Amino acid sequence: MANWANQECMPRIHNKPCRRRRQVLVCILFLCSALGCVAAAPPTGAPRAAEQSHDATVHHSFADVDHWVTVFDDPGRDQWQRPAEVVRALGLRPGMTVADLGAGTGYFLRYLSPAVGETGTVLAVEPELNLLGYVRARIEREGESNVVPILASLDTPRIPSGSTDLVLIVDTIHHLDDRLTYFRRLKRVLKPTGRIAVIDWQKRELPEGPPAEHKIAREQVIEEMTAAGYALADEPDFLPYQYFLIFKPVPDLGGRQPTGAPSP
Ligand SMILES: C[S@@+](CC[C@H](N)C(=O)[O-])C[C@H]1O[C@@H](n2cnc3c(N)ncnc32)[C@H](O)[C@@H]1O
Repeated sequence: MANWANQECMPRIHNKPCRRRRQVLVCILFLCSALGCVAAAPPTGAPRAAEQSHDATVHHSFADVDHWVTVFDDPGRDQWQRPAEVVRALGLRPGMTVADLGAGTGYFLRYLSPAVGETGTVLAVEPELNLLGYVRARIEREGESNVVPILASLDTPRIPSGSTDLVLIVDTIHHLDDRLTYFRRLKRVLKPTGRIAVIDWQKRELPEGPPAEHKIAREQVIEEMTAAGYALADEPDFLPYQYFLIFKPVPDLGGRQPTGAPSP
């Protein structure tokens, strides 16, 4: 089975602390309570979870391309990732522009590229320079002339404004920091009918993928996306280990009533 959790960067927590560790823990707890630093209940009127800033569940390096190729391009992945079915469910048409945000090694490119055809564009958006270099070589090798690699920064994808019909985000949302701000800004890259598709791990132990504590629950993604100004438009349910959520931006009325709506 492919090693999705980079064990070096993400050591798992063992359940049996030795006596010395327990003693240290007791001391820390004692000091904390003495100093009054034990977590207090949020004050009344505190922002709801979705309104707070969201730090990524997982930060680690993706620089080791050889390692990540064995994980993301594991030949067994197709069985549960069902990339052809995923791309069919996205309803892409020739001439469209689709962004693969957090493209990794470019696993989805060979399905996205023919779906939008010669007149369409695939933006392979990736902040890790080594992976982007791998994607460039892959595009050459596989002859995907409609794929444009984009070097993202961690807090902005650098996708041109108003350019994109669909942003696909596979197994990447849990690496994004301050998602509320990120997704509010991401609206700008969408065309008026644009959509955002999020595929990520169900938050439980599974035969594939990272450990449960590194995942973001489906309900949390929906709550955060709603707070960022999107509505869930569709939810294909054929993936065995991941949720698949398709969002549309809710028009920003700037506090005005929609046309024809009764005044309060
Ligand atoms: C688990 S991999 C998924 C790769 C690919 N989507 C796939 O399904 O094979 C997560 C990817 O997200 C990228 N990533 C991490 N932080 C990111 C950020 N802030 N913005 C965009 N991509 C990010 C990583 O470099 C990595 O390529």
